[in-house]
Amino acid sequence: MVVIFGTLGIALLCSVSGITLAAKNPLHARDDACRALAAALAGDVAYPNTTSYLQSADYWSLQQLETQPRCFVAPKSTKEVSTILRVLTEGDWPFTVKGGGHMPFSGGSSIENGVTIDLVHLNDIKVSSDRRSVSVGPGNRWINVTEILDPMGLGVVGGRDMNVGVSGLTLGGGISFFSGMYGWACDNVRRYEVVLASGRIVNATPTENKDLYWALRGGGGSNFGIVTRFDLVIFDQGEVWENGLSFPGSSNATVISHFQNLTIHGMPSDKGATGFVGINYHSSTGGYSADVGLVHATVPSSPGSIPAVFEPFQKVPSATANSTITGTVSNFITSIATPYGRRWTWGNVVVSASFPGKFITEIMSLFESHNVALLQNEGGDDISLTALFQPIPVNLIEAMQKNGGNAMGLKPSNGALIMISFPTSWTEAKNDELAYSATRKLIADIEAKAIEYKVHTPFVYMNYADIKQEVQKGYGKENYARLVSIARKYDPQAKLSHLWKGYFKLQYL
Ligand SMILES: Cc1cc2nc3c(=O)[nH]c(=O)nc-3n(C[C@H](O)[C@H](O)[C@H](O)COP(=O)(O)OP(=O)(O)OC[C@H]3O[C@@H](n4cnc5c(N)ncnc54)[C@H](O)[C@@H]3O)c2cc1C
Ligand SMILES: *[C@@H]1O[C@H](CO)[C@@H](O)[C@H](O)[C@H]1NC(C)=O
Ligand SMILES: *[C@@H]1O[C@H](CO)[C@@H](O)[C@H](O)[C@H]1NC(C)=O
Ligand SMILES: *[C@@H]1O[C@H](CO)[C@@H](O)[C@H](O)[C@H]1NC(C)=O
Ligand SMILES: *[C@@H]1O[C@H](CO)[C@@H](O)[C@H](O)[C@H]1NC(C)=O
Ligand SMILES: *[C@@H]1O[C@H](CO)[C@@H](O)[C@H](O)[C@H]1NC(C)=O
Repeated sequence: MVVIFGTLGIALLCSVSGITLAAKNPLHARDDACRALAAALAGDVAYPNTTSYLQSADYWSLQQLETQPRCFVAPKSTKEVSTILRVLTEGDWPFTVKGGGHMPFSGGSSIENGVTIDLVHLNDIKVSSDRRSVSVGPGNRWINVTEILDPMGLGVVGGRDMNVGVSGLTLGGGISFFSGMYGWACDNVRRYEVVLASGRIVNATPTENKDLYWALRGGGGSNFGIVTRFDLVIFDQGEVWENGLSFPGSSNATVISHFQNLTIHGMPSDKGATGFVGINYHSSTGGYSADVGLVHATVPSSPGSIPAVFEPFQKVPSATANSTITGTVSNFITSIATPYGRRWTWGNVVVSASFPGKFITEIMSLFESHNVALLQNEGGDDISLTALFQPIPVNLIEAMQKNGGNAMGLKPSNGALIMISFPTSWTEAKNDELAYSATRKLIADIEAKAIEYKVHTPFVYMNYADIKQEVQKGYGKENYARLVSIARKYDPQAKLSHLWKGYFKLQYL
């Protein structure tokens, strides 16, 4: 089957596989995928309106929840995952895979009318006897890992929200409180156990299938196989520290300039330091706040003191909130948990951290006019709007280079970067198209500004990307070509490219 990509190509692909299905199974084509799986597995296949279906349909965003598969299949072992992939790829049946279900867009880890493989039962967690790695099943959420590690005085480079899945976060990169020291989550995987399109089970490590090991660090799991086990590096870790500050929105330029300096100079000098800035709209007041989270991987030795790198923020006048907390990682990620049950979209732009002050003025004004346009047309909806700034300091990029580097193509010589993402949330389905188009326009406008100011990078962070962003193309031509050749090697018939729907796919064949 020849497939041309681009929007038209995707439409073409759907109709082509529709014809294939219809020809093969004239009556209830997709239902047969579920029956074939039920026959191969004895149980574990859940149909709509059953208790197990409703349990699997556990998604963070409403758009994903509303995307309903013909059935869920929930394997209990790697061997069952292998059987499932073999049945689906031999029958050419469309499917997707669900980890923690936190990707916001419809189809991120759900599929209308197809098969969703729910990894929820693959939930082993085993700490190695030398206390240097933990083997984690892909159905776990970060809270399940930290609740085991915290009492042992151990830490892992993992998510900052309790319910986010280990799988998706790690496969897409994985920003953590500890990234300044160790890189992103993907940089701290020692070994992946992977089920390939053919059903074959392989390991990917720095020495075994090392091309696949490289590709799985940022290349997009859905192009290579289903990971059935992650062996993650762990380290000694006690409680963490955070100072949360809020300022009026009018302080945005001051706060962001301190954040730039923190990213460029502060973080490399104190690798335990990290943080973020959120410019948030408040519908109750119609105004903005500039909120800062300053996080440190160690608690200052004298109670009440503030790590020196964070001092410049303390002199910013008119704080409306100022609180300092210490606690275990589990405490932190539980308190951060973002509630389920709203509609969401987001996208991101990554820029050089050394942008001029004028650039911030310009993007804040783009953000505000985007918001005005959205809020004017929302029809009473409860829209929430944020511009979120996250650091990619050079010390983090250096930590990404270990074990042959990852697939994302960031180099220390390009200097510190800042990712700006725009999480937007609302409640009414009638506003979906409005929110999508407004957010896409905002991202495009900000990219254009970044190019104008010569601070643009082609890199886009997968885990905060909009489905229309061409994530892997931003990793550079060479890395893209290498990813495609690795995908071809492990899936010569491009079955995953055709059948595993809805995510950031490499475009080939
Ligand atoms: C509230 C919230 C907080 C967040 N916090 C952070 C954060 O601190 N740091 C950060 O970097 N990101 C964060 N994110 C982004 C997050 O990393 C992504 O949304 C990620 O995809 C979530 O993983 P998941 O397993 O829950 O996703 P899912 O939606 O289940 O899966 C995402 C993708 O991975 C694929 N996939 C899932 N499991 C496997 C597997 N075993 N093998 C192969 N492919 C698989 C799915 O098919 C899908 O394509 C956050 C997101 C939310 C909503
Ligand atoms: C599930 O139940 C709802 C309400 O009880 C019903 O409207 C719907 O048609 C059912 N779906 C299926 C696929 O049976
Ligand atoms: C994961 O942690 C949550 C919250 O503590 C808990 O409800 C759930 O049962 C845990 N899952 C497993 C498989 O242990
Ligand atoms: C950012 O600050 C400027 C200058 O104080 C202000 O005019 C603008 O409205 C602020 N933007 C937001 C989103 O708060
Ligand atoms: C920038 O950061 C460095 C390192 O933390 C610090 O010494 C310096 O005071 C900061 N500069 C400003 C203007 O805040
Ligand atoms: C926050 O409170 C601490 C302790 O009282 C104080 O030293 C610091 O200056 C305050 N920070 C801001 C931004 O007001």
